[in-house]
Amino acid sequence: MKIGIIGYGSMGRMLLEKFLDGKCVSSEELLLANRTIEKIVHLKDRCTVCESNQELTAEADMVFLCVRPVDMKDILLEIKDYIKEDALLVSLNGSIMFEQIERICKGKIAKAIPSVTAEVNQSQTLVCYNERVTEADKECLIGLLSCMGTVIELPEQEMGMGSELVSCMPGFIAAIFQELCASAKKHTSLSESQIARMVLQTMVGTGTLMLEKEYSFEDVIARVATKGGITEEGTKVIQEQFPVVADGVFEKTLEKRRQTTEKARESFEG
Ligand SMILES: NC(=O)c1ccc[n+]([C@@H]2O[C@H](COP(=O)([O-])OP(=O)(O)OC[C@H]3O[C@@H](n4cnc5c(N)ncnc54)[C@H](OP(=O)(O)O)[C@@H]3O)[C@@H](O)[C@H]2O)c1
Repeated sequence: MKIGIIGYGSMGRMLLEKFLDGKCVSSEELLLANRTIEKIVHLKDRCTVCESNQELTAEADMVFLCVRPVDMKDILLEIKDYIKEDALLVSLNGSIMFEQIERICKGKIAKAIPSVTAEVNQSQTLVCYNERVTEADKECLIGLLSCMGTVIELPEQEMGMGSELVSCMPGFIAAIFQELCASAKKHTSLSESQIARMVLQTMVGTGTLMLEKEYSFEDVIARVATKGGITEEGTKVIQEQFPVVADGVFEKTLEKRRQTTEKARESFEG
């Protein structure tokens, strides 16, 4: 089965590395195309470097579209007559809806949204499919994406919130803990790096504890924040003051997501 990747930016590069390193795809089965071909010619030993998107599409059984939304429409128009009858198109973009892609390409389409944690094989890659995609196609796509973590299927309308929870969340978590660490630094002679390491290890340990023991957030708080104790003072501040921040985060990101989806829709219809 031949796997094609169009676009060798941040996402295309990651997929190529993960597919090859995870031995999910052999070099012979992997095809790559990029607008600036000079950026990929050095990869000739690792995959087939295609001269054009059309050359790649004519060969591939699955085509990953790793390009920005602004480039997507032109690429679809360019490749639509070259897509193999049974091939699966996989868009990595969450803002472009199936309905828009289907106006140009009528076949099987999926969306796959990995997160930055794929770099350490801990992605929770979100996927959704149009109704032409078969169970066999899904199995094949999930098999490939599993080389960088787990795969979660969602309905298309939940991909936005899903992306907030797994794709944006590393950024949110980093921003929250950055603030906590900066505040801790004001009260200690420990170095910034030591504070960060202690907090990060605690974060990983807390996550593992919760997942392995099936603890809820309330369970962890109850275990640590004993009545009248020190932790309770801190958790009270967070519980009283943080909800405003949390609501603000989702209000802003979901509004931005709505605008981005609208912009993508306009660019497709324009
Ligand atoms: N970055 C993330 O964390 C992330 C996470 C989930 C989903 N996504 C989605 O993944 C998609 C790709 O994002 P990215 O961060 O990888 O973007 P990127 O780093 O900007 O890479 C885009 C690539 O597309 C290539 N390209 C543009 N037009 C092309 C064309 N006509 N034919 C062939 N290649 C073309 C560009 O080639 P040049 O070398 O010529 O510029 C570039 O290599 C986006 O839709 C994004 O929303 C990104």
